[in-house]
Amino acid sequence: MPSVSFSTLFSPMQVGAHTLKNRIAQAALSSGYHRAHGVSDRHLAFYETRARAGAAMIVTEALACHSRQNAGTRVAAFREESLDGLKRWAASVEPHGTRLVGQFVDPGRGRHHPGRTPYAIGASALPDDLSWTVPHPLTRAEISRLVAELAETAHRLQRAGFSGVELSCGHGHLFHQFLSPAANARTDEYGGDLDGRTRILREILAAIRAACGTKFLLGMKLPGDDGVEGGIGPDLAAAIAGKFAATGMADYFAVAQGAHARSLEMHVPDRTYDRLAYREITRRVRAGAGGLPVLAVGKVSTPEEAEELLAAGDADGVMLGRAMIADGAWVAKAQAGRSGDIRACIGCNTCWESIIEGHGLACVVNPRIATADEAQDPPRAEKPRRVVVVGAGVAGLEAAWVAAVRGHHVTVLGRGAGGAMALHATLPGGEMLGRLPQWQLSRAVAAGAAIHLGEEADAAKILAERPDAVLLATGASMRPAAAGQDLREVLKHPTNGGALCVVYDADHTVGTYDAALYLAEKFARLVIVTPREAVARDMSLVVRQRVLRQLSMKRIEVITLHELVGAADGTATFRQVYNHDTLSIGNIDLLASATIRAPNDSLAAALEEAGVAVQVVGDAYAPRGPLEAVAEGHRAGLAL
Ligand SMILES: Cc1cc2nc3c(=O)[nH]c(=O)nc-3n(C[C@H](O)[C@H](O)[C@H](O)COP(=O)(O)O)c2cc1C
Repeated sequence: MPSVSFSTLFSPMQVGAHTLKNRIAQAALSSGYHRAHGVSDRHLAFYETRARAGAAMIVTEALACHSRQNAGTRVAAFREESLDGLKRWAASVEPHGTRLVGQFVDPGRGRHHPGRTPYAIGASALPDDLSWTVPHPLTRAEISRLVAELAETAHRLQRAGFSGVELSCGHGHLFHQFLSPAANARTDEYGGDLDGRTRILREILAAIRAACGTKFLLGMKLPGDDGVEGGIGPDLAAAIAGKFAATGMADYFAVAQGAHARSLEMHVPDRTYDRLAYREITRRVRAGAGGLPVLAVGKVSTPEEAEELLAAGDADGVMLGRAMIADGAWVAKAQAGRSGDIRACIGCNTCWESIIEGHGLACVVNPRIATADEAQDPPRAEKPRRVVVVGAGVAGLEAAWVAAVRGHHVTVLGRGAGGAMALHATLPGGEMLGRLPQWQLSRAVAAGAAIHLGEEADAAKILAERPDAVLLATGASMRPAAAGQDLREVLKHPTNGGALCVVYDADHTVGTYDAALYLAEKFARLVIVTPREAVARDMSLVVRQRVLRQLSMKRIEVITLHELVGAADGTATFRQVYNHDTLSIGNIDLLASATIRAPNDSLAAALEEAGVAVQVVGDAYAPRGPLEAVAEGHRAGLAL
């Protein structure tokens, strides 16, 4: 049924020879779901779910597209042996009226891990500011071979039933390196002016067109603003788009940001970025795009935002990444006017971390991602039971809504909805985090769960509910530090501020840095002291870049390799962890300590003694992060 509320979003869009049924494309999302570089069942489940929900076009994750590439965690589309898997992939998507487009990427010198890439290829022998990898500059002969191989791979995808190919020319990858004056210092016909720097891509477009014909979709993900000095900004990006439009061979442009550089965070703008962060850049690129459809990428998270962008004429369509990860039924829910039911992305970038760490794409808000029934409600339980969930953090609320939807009689006893995540959501830039507990709570309530908040549950209260099963999701608390106030307690009350605040960071989670950034607004000087060798190590590179940028912008001082040993009369004493030298910091107005947490599981023993079946979930089982907490809550709700 056509949506009334999102009429632009759900209007058809002409892209090349294809009329797309709406203006929603799924962005390329590396999943790491491959099996021996072939297509896996998880791939098929992930992509089919989103096609069935109604996305008009899906761009696959980055494919290994030529033989010089180390396939890494990618599907090796350049190999003929992959053909059968590629056919299965297309067959899982195309029958839903969704155009499947394979993405070609070579990272070139780009790298997300420590160290350097030994066999990187590039435009010139110049390093980026992130990995300092110096690539081998491609020779003319190597360029010719590369162009020919890409056309061959595109033809293989076409034979497999794909509708097209997208060339990933942003994010600092190889093609971006050719386009950028900061990375391309060639003196031959593939460098120099705009004509030279775009030549390799114009040759690739021509070769793919020659191999696959005019009906085959050819998209380009172009840089809009790469955040690199001397690199590509919106004006140059518009000129680049115009140059490719003039070839008559490209069908659409998507506008991406950031590069393999200190600006990498820009490509996945996290929750601290403004909504529709790249609207203006996209509008400027579109002005130069010669009338070709331009898809907006980056922090388009809700149907309302997508509609607003399109209705204003800032883009022709939207290309959604993390929103599609968070809810496989995003499109169907939007089309049915049920945007409130969408499990919204919280902008935490745990998904990005999961693929970089090689675990396979995972999502905090979507614990059943890439399973066949991911977009469906959990099945009804055979026998309804009386279930008490103790704790209303994200683990408890997840268990509660799942159990309630399954037909169990659920009572939640907790202090406040959302627990530590709700507290984090009160900090500047944390607002999106609040979406998860709000969604869980509303689903639990809608399914009939009784929610009792504002109370400390004890064994007597729990047993009074006569539960068949208890899920203990009471979270974790910071252990008492050698000195200072518990950082979480500090955040719960207004702070007057002062001259000097010291945050002792023996926790290393992003919440500690967000708290420090908040406190830095209240105090003239803020110092973070940590026993670790650096700050912000326990998070993905893109989140780390954001944290380091913000700490730097606020002139927050960092002292590493020191542990807190005591404090008195406004002076804190630290000990260097290796040589044991003493460091004192005086005139401190606030010393706030964040420490490694301890599980709050003390109720378990009393309940077990009373003969009740207890399962401990989330941080109460062992303090970790929200990914594990929500997943465990979900599993516990399913297991009842
Ligand atoms: C987990 C993950 C994997 C990604 N993999 C790719 C990829 O393979 N190729 C690519 O061009 N972009 C990739 N991106 C970037 C997305 O396509 C998109 O540009 C980015 O997520 C911003 O859009 P969003 O705000 O809608 O998520 C990835 C992003 C994420 C979060």
